[in-house]
This record gives sequence, C-alpha cells and structure tokens, in this order.
Amino acid sequence: MSTHRQFNSKRIASFGETVFAKYTRLAQEHKAINLGQGFPDFEPPAFVLEALRAASTTFQQYAPLPGLPALSEVVAKTMSARLGLGLKPEENVQITVGATEALFATMQALIDPGDEVILLEPFYDAYPADVLMAGGVPKYVPLLPDVTGRWILDLAELTAAFNAKTKAIILNTPHNPSGKVFSSDELDAIIRLAHKHNAIIISDEVYEHISFVPHLSVAQRPGGWERSITISSIGKTFSVTGWKVGWAVGPKELIRAVRLAHQWIPFVVATPLQEASASVLTQAAKNDYYAKLRRLYQGKRDTLLAALKQTPLKALVPQGGYFVIADSSALDLKGDVALCEALPVQVGVTAIPPSAFYSKDHRHLAKHLLRLAFCKSDEALQEAGQRLQNLREGFKT
Ligand SMILES: Cc1ncc(COP(=O)(O)O)c(C=O)c1O
Repeated sequence: MSTHRQFNSKRIASFGETVFAKYTRLAQEHKAINLGQGFPDFEPPAFVLEALRAASTTFQQYAPLPGLPALSEVVAKTMSARLGLGLKPEENVQITVGATEALFATMQALIDPGDEVILLEPFYDAYPADVLMAGGVPKYVPLLPDVTGRWILDLAELTAAFNAKTKAIILNTPHNPSGKVFSSDELDAIIRLAHKHNAIIISDEVYEHISFVPHLSVAQRPGGWERSITISSIGKTFSVTGWKVGWAVGPKELIRAVRLAHQWIPFVVATPLQEASASVLTQAAKNDYYAKLRRLYQGKRDTLLAALKQTPLKALVPQGGYFVIADSSALDLKGDVALCEALPVQVGVTAIPPSAFYSKDHRHLAKHLLRLAFCKSDEALQEAGQRLQNLREGFKT
C-alpha cells in the first residue's frame, strides 16, 4: 500500500480517515449504543418511503443540469415564501448531491488559491477539506460556551479575522455540533462584515427544520440575500441521509457559478431521488410534517438531557440540530479522545470527541467535551442514559 503513497496529490496530504469511521467501528466492535454519527436509526415516515417507491418506476434518465423542474420549483417556492422574494427555479436554485456537494461545488466556484475562508469552530468537518481542495486558506474563529452553556460568537475576534484576502465565511445554523441557532443580531453583524470586505456568506442550513427556537436564514435578513448562498438538503429533515439530495439557493450570478462547477462534478443528481424529494417537500408543506418533526426531536433531546442529569456530565442545552455537547470536566480524564475511546469499551456507549472539529491550534478548547447524537430511537437513548450512569464509579482514563 505504502508504495502508492508517492502518487498522492499534495491536496489530500493532510487528510486522514474521518472521525466517524473510527467511532462507528468501535461501536460495532463493542456492541455499544452508537450516539456517534448523526444519522437516524429509525425509519423515515411512511409518506417519504411511498414517494421513493412511486418515483422508482418513472424517472430513469439524466435530469436537467439545474435539477428536476419539480424539485427546483418546490425549493424556489419554499425559499420565496421565507424570504418574501420571487425566486426563479432556473436562476436561483441548483440541485446537488446533498449539501456535501453543494458545499464542494460552491467552494470550487468561488475560491481561488490563497483566498481566505472564515470557519467557525467547532466546524462540520467537510468545511476545511472543501476550502483546502479549492486551494483556499481556512481562518478559524472559535465559538465559546459561556457559564450558562450558550455558545458565544466573539464579534471582535470575528471582525479581526476579516481582511482583504477574505473571500467567504461559512455559517452553519442550526449549528453542528454545538446546537447554536444564530440570532438576528449575530446574522446582521456577519452580513455587515461580509459587505464591508466584499465577501460571500455560505450558509449551511441542513438542520433548518430541527430548531427549538425560531430559525432564521441569513438570506432573509436585510442585505443578506445578495451576499449569500443558502445550502440545505433532504437528509436530516426527512430521516433519509442516504438519499443525498440537496440544493444551493442564491442570486443568479452566484448560482450560475455553482452550476458551472457542479456540471463537472456529478453533472446531474439521481433522477428518481429528485422526483421523490420533490414529492416529499410538496407533501410536507401541507401535512404539518415540520411541526411534528420539531416535536419528535424536542422529545428526544429532552430524553437525553434528562438522562445526562443523572451522570457527572453537564449538558449544554442545544437550541437546534440533533446533537448535545456535554462537559466532562467533573471526571478525571486525559482528554476527549481518551474518553470517547474508553466509552464504548467500559460503558457501552459511543460518542464523538469534538476536538476533531477544531483546528490544531484550538483543539485544547474541546478536551473536556463530548458530542452525543440524539437522532436515535427512544429505547436507544434511554438505554444509553442508563449506561452513562456507570461513569460515576471512579471512572478515569
Ligand atoms: C452541518 C452539516 N452540513 C452538511 C451535512 C451533509 O449533508 P448531506 O448529507 O445532505 O450531504 C451534514 C451532515 O452531517 C452536516 O451536519
């Protein structure tokens, strides 16, 4: 194997295996309850599966480059209603292979070698890789939890990170893994900075419908639309992370650029899955699905928070998304990686060490933290809660 290393590009030289592969393997090896990777362990709703069955027999050939019209139209309609704008499906929407490809294509479309892109820590781990693969330079600004457990964006630090080389900032609201939902004041401050430095806001909103406080798109704030590309997908909202259907929405010129990159990445997105996604989004707008989803996840969040109260872990209450960050300072640990390696073996639960979501210089900020996913069945959450109580008896790493 090692003889092949010499052929690797410099672009990928700093990449390793994702943290999820390691901890999913550990979960399987030790038959631990997997609160690691963020995918639901329960079935999607029946109408979602039915939409997939119906689409499977009709649409088998390439879709148009911008996306299947039925899907682009429903995305445009939904975003138009939110923004109070009349978006045009062809001009303002690009359908992509999940949010993942929307992020990659956006970066390829906007970033030149040497351009700086601001990332907030903890970050979703694709962001630095996307910036690096485009030849850009990630600039990191950490979010920090205050004593009440709220994650604070230090505006002075953010302002200092912007300069003449800044091309973009990636925002993620609701935020993975902190659960922070950015306020209107925070979004407005980011928009002001983007205008001042002629930068674009790439807003990853894949958890837009899993928010326990009102979610705001950056594009709906004054001055936000013309400076932003909003990215979302079907996976989290409908418990179908394997479908990999997503979209980028924004002003005509920006979407044109994303499309030019997209046409040479996948060219188009799987047609039956686009058709099924269009049907699902159309039905969800009418069947009160989003309110039910919020209630479902609020219940799961509260089950996990109640269980954590019986342990020495101190949960930071998330405002959105499907992760809880917990503080393990009360235990005698060597760090978050040591804890997450020991948990499946000694306790039978798998979590993710959040230091994986920080740059090297800032990793120490996460050494007393761990991330637990609550997109799991109630039985799994309750059993995990029971098992985590074993952390009490002189647990150390
Ligand atoms: C913040 C964030 N963005 C993007 C994605 C990827 O979305 P998709 O599966 O639609 O590519 C995820 C998945 O975990 C995520 O948490």
